[in-house]
Amino acid sequence: MISRVFRYRKGRSGVKAAAGPCALLLLANLGCGLGDGTLEEVDPASIPAEVTYTQHIKPRMEYFCVACHNPDASLGNAGGWDLSTYLLVRASYDSIATTSFLKRTMPPGGARRLTAEDEAYFNRWEALGFPEKPTPKP
Ligand code: HEC
Repeated sequence: MISRVFRYRKGRSGVKAAAGPCALLLLANLGCGLGDGTLEEVDPASIPAEVTYTQHIKPRMEYFCVACHNPDASLGNAGGWDLSTYLLVRASYDSIATTSFLKRTMPPGGARRLTAEDEAYFNRWEALGFPEKPTPKP
């Protein structure tokens, strides 16, 4: 299951490719967000065993995406992609993962970037079969 954490880094040249721009940003003193390393640097044990939409994915979607990707056309509704509900995020999961972690085209502009830690959360959520809510405790 843990190997799924690495899924979206396949085919990339890995640590060096991702560390390069980060080191350049540091040199330019632009900063390089905390936790914004490579997926290989994320300790899988630091990610909760149970990653759910309501606890972990929704807050990230709202912070990074929903300002543009929402049902309200007056706010943008970017490209017609509404990413504001569980079912819509699930249905668009592959596109979300591709744009956020593989191509890194979303969010555009790079002001707010998802980190390797965010990626590990998304990968674990996928590996668990996209649970919506935490399993109720007996
Ligand atoms: C600043 C506004 C903005 C933010 C924030 C934003 N997007 Fe987008 N997104 C757009 C616009 C505009 C389009 C349509 C034009 C395009 O394809 O570039 C788009 C298109 C898309 C598409 C469909 C086209 C494609 O490239 O596959 C996906 C999927 C997507 N965004 C995912 C995301 C995800 C996931 C996030 C958050 C991590 C996000 N976006 C954040 C503006 C935004």
